[in-house]
Amino acid sequence: MARVGENQLPQAHHLLLFPCPFQGHLNPMLQLATLLHSKGFSITIVHTQFNSPNPSNFSNFHFEIIPDGLSDGLHPMDILSIINVNCAAPFRAVLARMLSDNRRGPITCVITDDVLSFTQSITDSLKVPRIVLVTCNATSYVTISSIPMLHQKGYYPIEDPNSEVPVPEIPPLRVKDLPVPPPSTVGTFLQLIVRQISATRASSGLIFNALDCLEQTTLSKIQQEFRIPVFPIGPLYKFAAGHSGSSSLLSPDHSCMAWLAKQAPKSVIYVSFGSIAAIDGPDLLEMAWGLANSGQPFLWVVRPGFVNGSECAAELPEGFEEETRDRGLVVKWAPQQEVLSHPSVGGFWTHGGWNSTLESVCEGVPMLCWPCFMDQAGNARLVSHVWRVGMTLENGLERCEIDWAIRRLMVGNEGKEMRERIKDLKENVDRSIRKGGSSHQSLDALIDLISSF
Ligand code: UDX
Repeated sequence: MARVGENQLPQAHHLLLFPCPFQGHLNPMLQLATLLHSKGFSITIVHTQFNSPNPSNFSNFHFEIIPDGLSDGLHPMDILSIINVNCAAPFRAVLARMLSDNRRGPITCVITDDVLSFTQSITDSLKVPRIVLVTCNATSYVTISSIPMLHQKGYYPIEDPNSEVPVPEIPPLRVKDLPVPPPSTVGTFLQLIVRQISATRASSGLIFNALDCLEQTTLSKIQQEFRIPVFPIGPLYKFAAGHSGSSSLLSPDHSCMAWLAKQAPKSVIYVSFGSIAAIDGPDLLEMAWGLANSGQPFLWVVRPGFVNGSECAAELPEGFEEETRDRGLVVKWAPQQEVLSHPSVGGFWTHGGWNSTLESVCEGVPMLCWPCFMDQAGNARLVSHVWRVGMTLENGLERCEIDWAIRRLMVGNEGKEMRERIKDLKENVDRSIRKGGSSHQSLDALIDLISSF
C-alpha cells in the first residue's frame, strides 16, 4: 500500500477498534475512530453489551457487539477483570471472521484500549498488529507502570491514603496521589496492571490522548522504556471536532446552554465529577452549601447514581433551590465540551478525570480539583503543582473550604494568575494540532505506521 500523504487516503485499510466500556474510555476511542475515518480508513467498532455506544450516532462505522457475561452492581475493577476473561472467545471469533471479510476488506490493524490486555495474545495468534490506546495521560501511565515496583518496595497496600510523604520514584507525586484500589480489589488491581503492561510492551505502538507540549519529558521516558513507537495525538476531541457523533451514554441536557448565555462572562463555575465517581449523602450537603455560600453562579451536574446508595436523582438539601434559584442550575448530564468552551464559564470544579482535565486545559478554564480515585489525584497534582492552572481541595468536602476555594478561583488574584497560565497552555495546545504541530506530526506518523501494515 502507498504511503499516506495529506491528500492520499488509504481507502482499502480496514481497522478494528475495541474500546473499554466506560464513558471516559469510550469517548477517546470513538474520537480516534472518527479521526481515522476522516483520513480514509474504514472502521469496525467491537463493543461489549455493557455500556454499548449507540451505532446510529456513527452511521459510517460498522459495529459488532460481543457478549460480556457481566451482572449488575459490580465494581469497575471487577468489570474489567471479567471482561478480560469473558470477552476473549467472542473477540477472537469476531476478529477471525473479519480478517477475511470480503465486503469491507480484511482487517489490517486492531486498536484496543490499554486495559483490554487479553486482546494482545489473540491478535498475536491471528497475526494482525495491535496498537494500544491509552486514555489516561503520560504521567499517570508512568505511575501505573511503576505500581508493580512500588508494590515490591512496600508502598502497597497503602497504609495512610492521606500521607503527604513524597514518592521519590515518581516525582512530583506523594503517597496520597497514588492510585488506591478498594482493599477488596488490590489483588485484582495488581494482576490487571501486570498483564496490561506486558501486553502493551508486546504491541506495535502506543497512542496517547496526551500532548508533547504538556508532558514531553514523560512521553520521551515512555518511548525509551517501552521501545515501541509512541504517538501523543491529543486532544482527540479537538482533532475529531466537527466529524464526531456522540458517544455519550447519558443524554446531555442542552437547555443549560440557553441559561449560560444569560450569565456574565467568566462568572459561572461548572461542576461535574465525570461518569463514575460517587459521593456520600453528607458530602452532597457540603457541596451544595459550599456552592450556595460562595455566591457564584454555578452549573452543577448531579447525574443519577452520583450519591452512593441511590440509583436515581439525588435529593438536594431543603432550602438549597430557593437560595440559589436565580444563579444556579442543576442538570443530570451536560454537553461538557460545549459548556467549557462557553464564554460565561470561568472555572471548573472537577474530579480530575483525564478527559475532563484535558478538556478544561483546551478551553482555557482553570480548575478546582477534588480527586476521587485512580489517576485523578495524580492529574490534580499536575494541575495544581506542575502547570499551576488550578487548585486542589486537599481535605475532603467541607462547605467553608469549598466556599473559600471557589471564591479564590473565580474572583481572587490567584484565580486570575491561573487563568493567564491556562491561556498560555491552551495556545500551546492549539499550536500542537495545527499542521506542523507536535500532535499533528504524531498523527501523520501513526497513519504512516498503520498504512505500512
Ligand atoms: C474515567 C476515570 O475516572 C478517569 O480518571 C480516567 O482518566 C478515564 O476514565 P470519568 O471518571 O468518567 O472517566 O472522567 P473523565 O475522564 O473526565 O471522562 C468523562 C467524560 O464524560 C468527559 O469526556 C466529559 O466531557 C464527559 N461528560 C461528563 C459529559 O459529556 N457530560 C457530563 O455532564 C459529564
